[in-house]
Amino acid sequence: MIKQETIQAILDTANIEEVVGDFVSLKKRGANLIGLCPFHNEKTPSFTVSPAKGIYKCFGCGKAGNAVHFIMEHEHYSYYDALKYLAAKYKIPVIETERTPEEIQLDNDKDRLFNINAFVQKYFTDNLLNTEAGQAIGLSYFKKRGFNDATINTFQLGYSIDSFNALIDYCHKNGYKDDILAKSGLAVVHDDGKMFDRFRGRVMFPIHNLTGRVIGFGGRILTSDKNTAKYLNSPESDIYHKSDTLYGIYLAKNSIVSKNFCYLVEGYMDMITMYQAGFTNVVASSGTSLTTNQIRLIKRFTNNITIIYDGDAAGIKASLRGIDMVLSEGLNVKIILLPEPEDPDSFIKNNRTSDVIDYFENKPRDFIRFKTELLLNDAKDDPIKKAEVIKDIIASIAVIPDEIYRAMYIKECSDLLGVKEQSVIFEVNKIIRKKLGKKYNDPDIEVHDNSTQQPLTQEEQDIEKNNSFDIYERAIIEKLFLYGDIQSNYNLGAENEAQTLSNAEFIINELDAEGIEFNNQLYSRILNIYRDNLHNGFIPGQRYFINNADREISTLAANLISTPYSLSEKWKENHIFPRMETDDIPSTIIKTLLSFKSAFIKRLRAEIQEKLKNAEDSKEMEDLLETDKQYKQVEINIDSLLNRTISY
Ligand code: CTP
Ligand code: MN
Repeated sequence: MIKQETIQAILDTANIEEVVGDFVSLKKRGANLIGLCPFHNEKTPSFTVSPAKGIYKCFGCGKAGNAVHFIMEHEHYSYYDALKYLAAKYKIPVIETERTPEEIQLDNDKDRLFNINAFVQKYFTDNLLNTEAGQAIGLSYFKKRGFNDATINTFQLGYSIDSFNALIDYCHKNGYKDDILAKSGLAVVHDDGKMFDRFRGRVMFPIHNLTGRVIGFGGRILTSDKNTAKYLNSPESDIYHKSDTLYGIYLAKNSIVSKNFCYLVEGYMDMITMYQAGFTNVVASSGTSLTTNQIRLIKRFTNNITIIYDGDAAGIKASLRGIDMVLSEGLNVKIILLPEPEDPDSFIKNNRTSDVIDYFENKPRDFIRFKTELLLNDAKDDPIKKAEVIKDIIASIAVIPDEIYRAMYIKECSDLLGVKEQSVIFEVNKIIRKKLGKKYNDPDIEVHDNSTQQPLTQEEQDIEKNNSFDIYERAIIEKLFLYGDIQSNYNLGAENEAQTLSNAEFIINELDAEGIEFNNQLYSRILNIYRDNLHNGFIPGQRYFINNADREISTLAANLISTPYSLSEKWKENHIFPRMETDDIPSTIIKTLLSFKSAFIKRLRAEIQEKLKNAEDSKEMEDLLETDKQYKQVEINIDSLLNRTISY
């Protein structure tokens, strides 16, 4: 972990205008800067940067935060990596907290692995571009496969010399030790301890992690020798886990976000050819069936995946099961089936670009339809086989977590299979019930058979109720963030004596006087931060929350503190000022508190109504009615105060 002082230094130094400005072109607009949002597609700018507050906020898609968050969101870095990035940008020395010897060892090993992979990538590329064999064999092969110079450069492609020790010798000469050569898998160690270059006479594809560092290699053989594997890959290491990696994700991620979907292909060659042809939102599974971690990796960038299949029916059927897993992760899956015998690489090369675009845009079919058609085609008119197909499709639909999508697919499935929708619903619910029953250990969980709608659990009902109440709590938090550390005059008590105190103190006192706790966990935590700090004589201000280490708090602060527009200079020149809440902060705050209290009391009364329905005896009913009468008086008082505040 990075030391708190370093984090503070980074937060204090990082200039939001410069940090964002590296990626977004910004124009001055009043006190703020605006530009086109890098997180969603837009034509008119709604992305705002406030240098004074140190935050960005998009009024289109709602993304907001400070400089660290921007780097996290934009580059898909972890908090740690984003801090490191900013530290490097502003030349701030990073001091880390103490780590255990094991952690240090592991980190050292990882660093050494990253180092040697980066070093060897340059070596392979140098071989390719600057040696005779590299040019004659490797480069000419890539050219023959249609890769242009930019592509070779972008993908950092290379060539491994056909020798058993060229790489090892070169690494030795540059100070790399045997242990790291072995750990990285760049050298193969035989039983007798002798080491040999793993990659010999192959064109090399470096494999990058999300932040663009080389973690391993794939090497393709150039002869058509049937006895040697076409591809050789780096073995697993502390930094390379095949099942967590998608080839090309580093280059594709921004495009995946902006297009909001991701093509999935099988091979290195397919991925690169697609990318070069302009389909930059593409990753390759490298020939294995998808893992949950790979799916989650995609899910960080989009919920939509389009799988491109070569037209080989046997292979497709084998992979259908794997797709249920993609569905159950909540991704929307589409399929593009290529005409036999093409794969994405050959398809792009054998067709005009406009035809390829046309095909990719018009041929995707949703997965359920694809699977249904594929299996039905097999079953033909065999009723037993057809029943199997129906069962199979229904099982796929049942894993989809989103109810609306499930309902959509149920409809489609019933149309395609000529089965009554009710029956499909019934079967899907049966599977879900079985699963839920397992989860809650209750075989009798009710699922309505006449609707895809599951009844809300008590827990869900509570959440729903709280959500509508949330806005009142949120409004108070907003006022705390905006005006908490500003002093105002309040008329307190019957004598109407004006008192000057911070708005934060006023709000907290008002809430505590009534013993009110917030329902929303996050908002309640924020109230406690104010309570603790006020107790120690400190009023936390905007920066305190915007730069809070707790991401939930800092995001909320950035969201609530940003304002969509600042007054234009022209208005000011012409002395036109719209009425603003900052004109009279105390009355704004009182209004907010009263609205909250009004909602609060209405909620208490609704709860009493609920209890009345279930009251056991007349004594209990009388008590409840008595309490309600008192509440009602409070409600009337609050509402009349509220009306007066609104009208002045
Ligand atoms: N693969 C592998 N080892 C092999 C064969 C394949 O790791 N012996 C992986 C590679 O990642 C490869 C992917 O499976 O890219 C798909 O295989 P294939 O379609 O045969 O390779 P392409 O990338 O299409 O290569 P090419 O067009 O040159 O045959
Ligand atoms: Mn191929």
